Amino acid sequence: MTFNSLSIHLLPVFVFVLSTVGVDAGAANPSYGLQDDYYRHSCPSAESVVRRVVMGNVTVVDNRKFAAGLLRLSFHDCFVEGCDASVLLYGPGTEKTAPVNKFLQSLEILDKAKQELEKICPGVVSCADILQYAARDGVIALNGSSWKVQGGRRDGRVSRAESAEKEIPSQDFDLDGLTASFKRKGLSRDQMVILSGAHTSAAGHCENLVRRLYNFNSTHATDPSIPAAYAAELKATCPRKTFNDTVFITMDAVSAFFDAGYYVTLEEHKGVFTSDQILFDDHRTRPLVKTLTDYKLFEKKFHQAMRAMAAIGVKLYDGEIRKDCRFINSY
Ligand code: HEM
Repeated sequence: MTFNSLSIHLLPVFVFVLSTVGVDAGAANPSYGLQDDYYRHSCPSAESVVRRVVMGNVTVVDNRKFAAGLLRLSFHDCFVEGCDASVLLYGPGTEKTAPVNKFLQSLEILDKAKQELEKICPGVVSCADILQYAARDGVIALNGSSWKVQGGRRDGRVSRAESAEKEIPSQDFDLDGLTASFKRKGLSRDQMVILSGAHTSAAGHCENLVRRLYNFNSTHATDPSIPAAYAAELKATCPRKTFNDTVFITMDAVSAFFDAGYYVTLEEHKGVFTSDQILFDDHRTRPLVKTLTDYKLFEKKFHQAMRAMAAIGVKLYDGEIRKDCRFINSY
């Protein structure tokens, strides 16, 4: 039995016997126990290696989706068990197998970065940190600007599909549902609106739009808040029951680049999911959405909010530095 397959078999055991601390703690303060330039002494090229691998694997023209995939991974990791790379673990019943994680991508890019780092600094750089550096670099690949990403997270040993289903907010949530979900992680409603701006380079699959287009509620088959022409466009792209997973809808009608186009799209009532359009339609968040159409402001606020999200429930002393991002270490 190889090391990796041994790890898969042991995973369910560790899932139940090992506990983690502070799953939801420390989210509000981005500097909680983490540091900028964390690897400056222990592995000085850590961040540049991740940057090089990301840039070598994603280009704006061909591979927007891989850069966006990295950014989404950071959200799906941090909201479940904290930012501890639990989303990367393979095996039966892990977070990756949850329906909400069906369309996650770009894990191979993280594997490559980890493999390179293990050659030069074995056992030093955590997968959780690599993931956060790569999310930032994905934004840069999409022509967005850089920000300082803190390091010092250790990797978790627990990953459960049901936790992902419980903690990741649904695209069908209203404003109260979204706000409550972010509040549980120590993030404010404003931070939720700002982080949703990550959808500026995002795309969604028809499967996640079925309810809004064909099965909305008892009085309306289609969400009446979607302008008729746009609803017809969406239905043409996602015909009832005959769509497939290779089709996707861009969530920013303005451009595929990292910009403020997402918020302009919401002003035009072309938000793809309920959870997008509600940010403009609800009077409580509309003023902020309007403000964020100013890219310079959005970019500054987005960087701050990403630092806050990347500090959710981090493991500073427990956990481990995985050798392979897909499997917990065996002892
Ligand atoms: C506010 C609650 C959120 C909800 C309900 C939500 C929901 C979704 C959904 C349904 C998709 C499309 C999945 C698919 O059909 O393939 C998606 C894509 C995406 N989301 Fe979110 N999201 C939220 C917040 C965030 C946050 C906070 C980030 C990152 C900071 C983020 C980053 C992305 C990215 C980059 C994609 C595109 C991924 C790709 O193309 O592979 N989302 N999101």
